[in-house]
Amino acid sequence: MKTTSLFACITALLIILCFRGSNGQLSSTFYATSCPSALSTVKAAVTAAVAKEKRMAASLLRLHFHDCFVNGCDGSILLNDTSTFTGEKTAGPNANSVRGYEVIDTIKSRLEAVCSGVVSCADIVTIAARDSVVLLGGPTWTVPLGRRDSTTASLSTANSNLPSPSSDLSTLISAFQAQGLSTKDMIALSGAHTIGQARCTVFRSRIFNDTNIDSAFATSVKANCPSNGGDANLSPLDLVTPTVFDNNYYKNLRSKKGLLHSDQALFNGGSTDAMVTTYSTNPTTFFSDFATAMVNMGNISPLTGTSGEVRTDCRKTN
Ligand code: HEM
Ligand SMILES: *[C@@H]1O[C@H](CO)[C@@H](O)[C@H](O)[C@H]1NC(C)=O
Ligand SMILES: *[C@@H]1O[C@H](CO)[C@@H](O)[C@H](O)[C@H]1NC(C)=O
Repeated sequence: MKTTSLFACITALLIILCFRGSNGQLSSTFYATSCPSALSTVKAAVTAAVAKEKRMAASLLRLHFHDCFVNGCDGSILLNDTSTFTGEKTAGPNANSVRGYEVIDTIKSRLEAVCSGVVSCADIVTIAARDSVVLLGGPTWTVPLGRRDSTTASLSTANSNLPSPSSDLSTLISAFQAQGLSTKDMIALSGAHTIGQARCTVFRSRIFNDTNIDSAFATSVKANCPSNGGDANLSPLDLVTPTVFDNNYYKNLRSKKGLLHSDQALFNGGSTDAMVTTYSTNPTTFFSDFATAMVNMGNISPLTGTSGEVRTDCRKTN
């Protein structure tokens, strides 16, 4: 091989290595000099919010998921609708459902006070999700940082990319695959449903019409979710320990006590049964895979460098 082509080869290899994946520029020390108190500021505010209401930890975790699945983790979900701008907040999976916007606002205003224009809303959401999991007893992990905020949002992408609770297994696998996440990531991330609540409207057809459901469980959930009315009534996604981040979600699935049709789809005689069984008996494996999958989800198409902006108000573009 000629020296010039060898050089070209090495250059090409370096380019591939450097730019592999779109998250190559995120770094856990991104704010170490520009805003050293970034992580502690987020943690303090999340701790206060969760002390006030444990469910907020679940809501903040879900907020991150719903941000990342719509054109990447770019804070797009936080943008308000205006007369000239259509955001994602009214999308089917978000409307009257996604919570935690005020907590993000509180964190943002504190960070603007200490290091103005530095910490992105997308990073705040990512850190808050991690802190939330830790506060309810789940695993911790190091969060890659340096995401920037979008100047756009997509209502239609929110409606098409966020998986529906009526999804079957193959639909769930494809929805995650479309975001570059594996089936293993999908199963581990679904373990987020070990905390938080769901509205009657999203699980009514499951408790009334599904056959792969424990009948005593269905009866007990029907007490607060009648066949007509009570659409907004809440039920815990994990009936056993709804405010503890543990592996009970998977144990519930094995006893046909998944609240959502989409939850039970993970343990319904299909290819993912084995992994559900593993997580149900091995919390350490679940925690470790969950942490890995959260980093993978947080790395979906971030805006970095000079793309996007760092919003001063998470609810509107600069
Ligand atoms: C696998 C596909 C998924 C589907 C179909 C799904 C669907 C849902 C639905 C329908 C609700 C109830 C919303 C409501 O009634 O207002 C919910 C709640 C929740 N989801 Fe998911 N989800 C999925 C994956 C995830 C992932 C990947 C995470 C995070 C890593 C997550 C975290 C949560 C949390 C924590 C709650 C409770 C929120 C609260 O109490 O405010 N979900 N999900
Ligand atoms: C259950 O299924 C029947 C028959 O498909 C349908 O008419 C009914 O509306 C369903 N009920 C619920 C609560 O989804
Ligand atoms: C966004 O909407 C919320 C709720 O309607 C409102 O309280 C807030 O002031 C709005 N913020 C901006 C910047 O439009």
